[in-house]
Amino acid sequence: MRALTWQGRHDVRVETVPDPEIVNPHDAILRVTSTAICGSDLHLYDGYIPGMRAGDILGHEFMGEVIETGPESTLKKGQRVVVPFPIACGECFFCRKQQFSCCDNTNPAETSDATEFQYGYPMAGVFGYSHLTGGYAGGQAEYVRVPFSNVGPIVVPDHLEDDKVLFLSDILPTGWMAAENCEIEEGDTVAVWGCGPVGLFAIQSALLMGAHRVIAIDHYRSRLALAKQLGAEILDYREVDVREALAEMTGGIGPDAVIDAVGLEAHGISIDNILDQAKSMTFMVTDRIHVFREAVLAVRKGGRVSVPGVYGGFADKFPVGAFMEKGLTMRTGQTHVHRYLKPLLEHIEQGRIDTTFLISHHAPLEQAAEMYRNWHDDQDQFTKIVLKTEMAAPKSGQKEQQHELA
Ligand SMILES: NC(=O)c1ccc[n+]([C@@H]2O[C@H](COP(=O)([O-])OP(=O)(O)OC[C@H]3O[C@@H](n4cnc5c(N)ncnc54)[C@H](O)[C@@H]3O)[C@@H](O)[C@H]2O)c1
Ligand SMILES: [Zn+2]
Ligand SMILES: [Zn+2]
Repeated sequence: MRALTWQGRHDVRVETVPDPEIVNPHDAILRVTSTAICGSDLHLYDGYIPGMRAGDILGHEFMGEVIETGPESTLKKGQRVVVPFPIACGECFFCRKQQFSCCDNTNPAETSDATEFQYGYPMAGVFGYSHLTGGYAGGQAEYVRVPFSNVGPIVVPDHLEDDKVLFLSDILPTGWMAAENCEIEEGDTVAVWGCGPVGLFAIQSALLMGAHRVIAIDHYRSRLALAKQLGAEILDYREVDVREALAEMTGGIGPDAVIDAVGLEAHGISIDNILDQAKSMTFMVTDRIHVFREAVLAVRKGGRVSVPGVYGGFADKFPVGAFMEKGLTMRTGQTHVHRYLKPLLEHIEQGRIDTTFLISHHAPLEQAAEMYRNWHDDQDQFTKIVLKTEMAAPKSGQKEQQHELA
């Protein structure tokens, strides 16, 4: 089959690789129909996540048709399913608590040791996300093996096209959980850093959960335009001092809740970010936490901090004093996707959540390497890329929408 493989930093290629096979009784094999590139893939592309090996197949946002099932799979051939990015057994201590991304049974001992050393406990398996999380082949491919297919995948109705349901695999539940973690109360103002797909879905979710105001921060005009279109007030961090602006917009009190939907690759030329960049080059820190710091300092006293943005290692100048003295609460984590599949599918079916507004490009799988490059180099134009396995490869990716700042 054809699949997008990681070869090294800024080097991914579509290659012919062996087809996946049923390995365990609860496995299923999917013929992938749609798969997306995620902000988390960018961390792999940029070489920030250790544990990658040349030839690894990427992709943790995918859906497709079931073509083969093991004897213990509950799926049937021909069903269309969307698959959550964390792999969960459904039966361990954590899965029983609905903390699916903390599953204890899906990352084999030989690959989980590194995370146990780094985090104190081993992490769960994730599709296409390094040998720290199991080394599972991902879904940016024609076919993919889905372990624990009796637990994760959700069968989607035929009348909902792929683009409407694909993001149930990750970014939609991630944005939703980010907003849920804000414990939004009536009248609340929520500030969201990052208007990438995760930030945009967090904005949509926060408004749906009753946030009175959402303030969105980024610097890409097209992404800020999408945030505005959703109903957010917007701030371009190149044009204003973000903390001052937020204080002013909230009568000097600060936002009630803040969402860091940026993670470890914060941009910007603030002094702390430049220091982080310099230190990361000499391995004194691994993560650039500028946005996290800014969010913790900007949130009101007694406020809530929600962190869907991915962090992987160690950071400098964690504002622990502000965190404690202001009496903040923080909630974070890889998304417990399985928990949200049914309710979010219902929101999509009822038309309460639109999932297609952020797709900027469709492209054939054959062009995946070019799409990674485009998306890395030009996030202003490329908001979200969906790869289609059945699309014939034209000369360049189709551009569908141009988002102008209204
Ligand atoms: N927790 C989870 O389960 C989970 C799931 C999916 C993605 N993620 C993570 O969420 C984060 C966002 O994902 P995405 O797909 O939206 O990524 P993305 O790269 O498309 O978007 C990140 C956005 O942050 C903006 N940004 C950078 N520096 C900023 C700053 N100083 N202030 C404000 N905005 C800034 C960028 O301009 C960009 O628009 C990533 O870290 C990703 O790994 C987490
Ligand atoms: Zn993702
Ligand atoms: Zn489990």
